[in-house]
Amino acid sequence: MTTNRAAFMETEKGSFVVRDAETMQPGPGEVLVKVHATAIQPADAKIAKFAVLKMEYPSVFGGPVAGFVEALGEGVKKVAVGEPVVSGTKFYVHKKAGYGGLQRFAVVDESEIVEIGDVSFTDAVTLASYTPPGALFGASTLHLHRPTIPASPLPASEQGKKILIWGGSSAMGALSISYAKQAGYTVISTSSPQNLSLLRSLGADHVFDHSDPSTVDSIRALFPIDYWFDCISLPATVSTIFKILAPEGSPVTKANILMLLPPSMPGMPQPPEGVTLQFHRFSTHAPENADWAKWLLARGGFLERGMKEGVLKGVPAEVVGGLEKAEEGIERVHKGVSAKKIVVEPWSDC
Ligand SMILES: NC(=O)c1ccc[n+]([C@@H]2O[C@H](COP(=O)([O-])OP(=O)(O)OC[C@H]3O[C@@H](n4cnc5c(N)ncnc54)[C@H](OP(=O)(O)O)[C@@H]3O)[C@@H](O)[C@H]2O)c1
Repeated sequence: MTTNRAAFMETEKGSFVVRDAETMQPGPGEVLVKVHATAIQPADAKIAKFAVLKMEYPSVFGGPVAGFVEALGEGVKKVAVGEPVVSGTKFYVHKKAGYGGLQRFAVVDESEIVEIGDVSFTDAVTLASYTPPGALFGASTLHLHRPTIPASPLPASEQGKKILIWGGSSAMGALSISYAKQAGYTVISTSSPQNLSLLRSLGADHVFDHSDPSTVDSIRALFPIDYWFDCISLPATVSTIFKILAPEGSPVTKANILMLLPPSMPGMPQPPEGVTLQFHRFSTHAPENADWAKWLLARGGFLERGMKEGVLKGVPAEVVGGLEKAEEGIERVHKGVSAKKIVVEPWSDC
């Protein structure tokens, strides 16, 4: 096996150093992946810039990873050596460098690995987020009816129901539109004007400019809306959603808004009476999500088929280069991207 190389963050809020690294061996239930593409998430940038999560340094961030299975830990049966796969990473749980994505060999959990066939590694790391399907279809989250391939009609109790996905041009929002449409829901979504065509191409039924003041009334005209998901979850987006639910002088429309950032964030407005804010916390391993995990992550499950059959769509990827570009990628995500996923290719010399 060739020597591993990784983009390490050496100290908390420090800078990145690319150097040789130990190749961690997979333990029971784990898989070693030769990483050909990995994505940078907003959470990576927040840990790197603001240390929002205590890590052990030197640390390696990044995920999901896509590449070829290099070695199997004890008991692994889901995949075989040499197969192309994608998987989420667990560096923020295990807090060991071997579990991060920004390196040539990373260790992942068998339960989260999905075989990808001919799907490109770049597309796979853009599409394989567990957050949108967790938020939409988890038993303790929005609990929408799960999609199938081919699509099947919604049960009578869900027919005609609508979901508002605020921030449809974010990576999480775009995938959420794709999942919700495949399930059969009517999707209302928002973005900047230049991204509205992307939202339409993902299948959204009603799209609105999030900064246009008339959007509040346009969305109210579509009431009733059954499910509310704020994929941006900043004070500004939450306060606009409150205006939709509780415009001055009108009665409050009761709703639960699922959020991707904690409602306890500084500056978050207080919800009007009858409106609740629910922070999305989700574990693919929790016993209550066992059925969900089987549906999404099993061999031949929804994620594998959704990627292979082109059902799942998301924001486009932008490959910034090899490990030397990891820091630049983190900076880009920190400054804010619009309708794109930043991807690093650890075997590229660029
Ligand atoms: N709780 C969890 O488990 C979890 C999981 C994943 C992500 N998250 C969090 O969820 C958030 C979204 O993640 P992501 O990866 O989808 O982000 P992303 O792709 O980086 O989001 C970029 C998008 O955000 C939109 N945006 C930025 N500021 C906005 C504002 N003030 N109003 C409306 N839209 C705005 C932009 O839309 P336009 O360019 O169209 O304006 C842009 O397309 C992040 O904060 C992330 O940390 C949480």
